[in-house]
Amino acid sequence: MKVLLAGGAGYIGSHTAIEIAKLGHEIVIADDFSNSKPEAVNRIRTIIGADFPFYEIDIADKEKLRALFAAEKPEAVIHFAGYKAVGESVRKPVAYYRNNLDTTLTLLEVMKEYGCRNLIFSSSATVYGAPDEVPIKETAAVGRCTNPYGWTKYMIEVILKDVAVADPDISVVLLRYFNPVGAHESGLIGEDPQGIPNNLMPYISQVAIGKLACLSVFGNDYPTKDGTGVRDYIHVVDLARGHACAIDYAAAHKGVEVFNLGTSVGYSVLDMVNAFETANGVKVPYKIAPRREGDIAECFADATKSRELLGWKAEKTLVDMCRDSWNWQSKNPNGYDA
Ligand code: UD1
Repeated sequence: MKVLLAGGAGYIGSHTAIEIAKLGHEIVIADDFSNSKPEAVNRIRTIIGADFPFYEIDIADKEKLRALFAAEKPEAVIHFAGYKAVGESVRKPVAYYRNNLDTTLTLLEVMKEYGCRNLIFSSSATVYGAPDEVPIKETAAVGRCTNPYGWTKYMIEVILKDVAVADPDISVVLLRYFNPVGAHESGLIGEDPQGIPNNLMPYISQVAIGKLACLSVFGNDYPTKDGTGVRDYIHVVDLARGHACAIDYAAAHKGVEVFNLGTSVGYSVLDMVNAFETANGVKVPYKIAPRREGDIAECFADATKSRELLGWKAEKTLVDMCRDSWNWQSKNPNGYDA
């Protein structure tokens, strides 16, 4: 199938491009580099060993998106095009609502115009907010988000469900990601956060390489086994493979379906620090700091539905996640910048 990856030069999009190209799908990437680098596209080409069409466009630019659809005629779209920094979303809510909703609405309009009926959306476990119980099933309550970024994911899910009701021919797959970490095993592509990282794994990597002095562990008084926050870390290549399964699912079904993409296993912050040190033979100095506002104690998936309906499950181990994160970080200490 010919698949457009909207926002496909970013962390998850770049890994997904590789996994779906490997399975024989034709790929087209569109990205405005607002949170990614042209070098990522070069490296995707290197890994795939073939060229593909790339469009430097803002997905919310309707005329440019129309031109892309007219030229490429994609049969499916994977929609990664959105801002994703939680803290920034609190400071710039209008920019987040504008960008994340506009890209989605424009995509929907142009897809309809060009008869493209399959849409996979990058949602997040953030839509569950503080869950009533773990592991979290897809049927758990949603919409208790604690920041504008999370609300954009929730709102887009609502929009896409409405679209699926109104248009019986469309197929929508909502993928709720847990905590993506790791990198492609080549070390050529990986997560390249702007400035000081907010998320745990890139922070650990930058402490290990000496760019940052010490990790602050945000709270050790949660009701968890060692008091630190527990999350479902998933290797980005496993996550990427989940998109390939979602493409097949969308092609074979109509309507809307939601899937958790997680491992179903929770690790604490200290588990991650210890695993990273052991896997890579490096030191990660840390100190205990106050809780981070908006954080929850525990979050991990029940991924049964993804296994049963998508035929997908996470295969990589915590050691793989730590080793591949470090491989990327140590080969590219400044990310994609030389
Ligand atoms: C965060 C977002 C979530 C988003 C996800 C994307 C918040 C509140 N949530 O999830 O909406 O979908 O990223 O990947 O920001 N930690 C530390 N020290 C650090 C960084 C993190 O102790 O310097 C801890 C956190 O308290 C948490 C765990 O590590 O227990 C994971 O944090 P993080 O990687 O930021 O992910 P989430 O907060 O789960």
